[in-house]
Amino acid sequence: MLNQITTLAIDTSCDETSCSVVRGTTVLSNILPSQIEFHKKYGGVVPSIAKLAHQERIDNVVAEAMKRAKLDFMNLDAIAVTVGPGLAIALEVGIKKAKEIAKGYNKPLIAINHMEGHLLSCFAQPNTETNKQTNDVPEVKFPALGFLISGGHTEIVLVKNWGKYELVGKTLDDACGEAFDKCGRILGLGYPAGPVISEFAKINRKNVCIETYRKHQSVILRVVNKNTKNIYELPVPMATTNDLNMSFSGLKTAFLNLVCELTNESISNLTPKTNLGERLSKSQILNLASAIEAVTIEQLKIKLTKAIDKYNPNEIWVGGGVIASARVRSSLRSIARKYNLKFRQPYTKKLTTDNGAMIGVAANLKLMGLNSKLKHNPKIGVYVTSFENLDRIPRLELN
Ligand code: KG4
Ligand code: ZN
Repeated sequence: MLNQITTLAIDTSCDETSCSVVRGTTVLSNILPSQIEFHKKYGGVVPSIAKLAHQERIDNVVAEAMKRAKLDFMNLDAIAVTVGPGLAIALEVGIKKAKEIAKGYNKPLIAINHMEGHLLSCFAQPNTETNKQTNDVPEVKFPALGFLISGGHTEIVLVKNWGKYELVGKTLDDACGEAFDKCGRILGLGYPAGPVISEFAKINRKNVCIETYRKHQSVILRVVNKNTKNIYELPVPMATTNDLNMSFSGLKTAFLNLVCELTNESISNLTPKTNLGERLSKSQILNLASAIEAVTIEQLKIKLTKAIDKYNPNEIWVGGGVIASARVRSSLRSIARKYNLKFRQPYTKKLTTDNGAMIGVAANLKLMGLNSKLKHNPKIGVYVTSFENLDRIPRLELN
């Protein structure tokens, strides 16, 4: 059993060039300069731009992570890197750097699945005076249910034990954060629109009344503005299906129809440059933000409840960029509370978005002996993790 293990971890799966140093589950540094400024004008992440930005920044980000952790490369026990899922040409940059360091300092290289990182991000601990860094293995009552909600994935994972995962539900089309971003784009809210929608919905909370009702086989969510009495309705996708899968692309279409109705615009007249938000009042935009937030959360709540009923877990773990929303967290936490389940969430927003720390935590939990499936190749000193029930890990070129 290896305790107090210290790992340098790199994640370049999408648009964050991130590097961290993690001791056990304690985050000594977590550097993640955002690339949002580069991608903003395109309304989404452009892979070739992401790759160039990673290449430009990776050396400085690694150096900064080591500096903040006050360590030298020789003090490290291992190097961990995200090998997928993610943008292949972006991942390559991190993998190349990690291999370079591992080879140069003769350290084991640990390949980590990005989604496993999000799943285990709730075990990261801050580096505080009171945290004694004992690095005891976290006490968990299995089974647990992980709910991973980001811009690229929306997944429910049954965790039977450390490293024993089963993907039991996922989005059939767009991811939850993607829906926020696409709906926000219709309103001209910029990229990423998720945080703006959350903020607008929060500001508008006191002005609206939200309810759901059944219509034939569907569940409809209705937002009523208490002052103007205006009504905004959207269908809750997959609300009445028995499985744990989700859908968000139909929501975007329903939202677009609703906005076109409000602006008297025909969908066929729209061009990529059309900014329907300009034709709406501030109050209408706030109400629409309330509607998209509420209908999204409603779907997440329905599916989490179904998953709990089906798998009877002892704990709920949440992770991913959308978990940065306080409303999403509190809605999911309230379900956990209703069932008397332990609820685990990352201790800071910097652990919800893509970050190296969650990769370091996942690697260290494995090195601390929690994942029997960790395969060690002594010839090349590489540990390869097994997360095969989720997205396939791309092949890691080892030399
Ligand atoms: O995990 P993440 O940083 O990247 C992916 O792996 O996808 O997630 C980014 C997503 C974006 O879609 C963004 O709009 C959403 O998370 N997001 C939020 C909030 N902060 C980020 N959505 C709602 N409320 C927020 N506060
Ligand atoms: Zn992610």
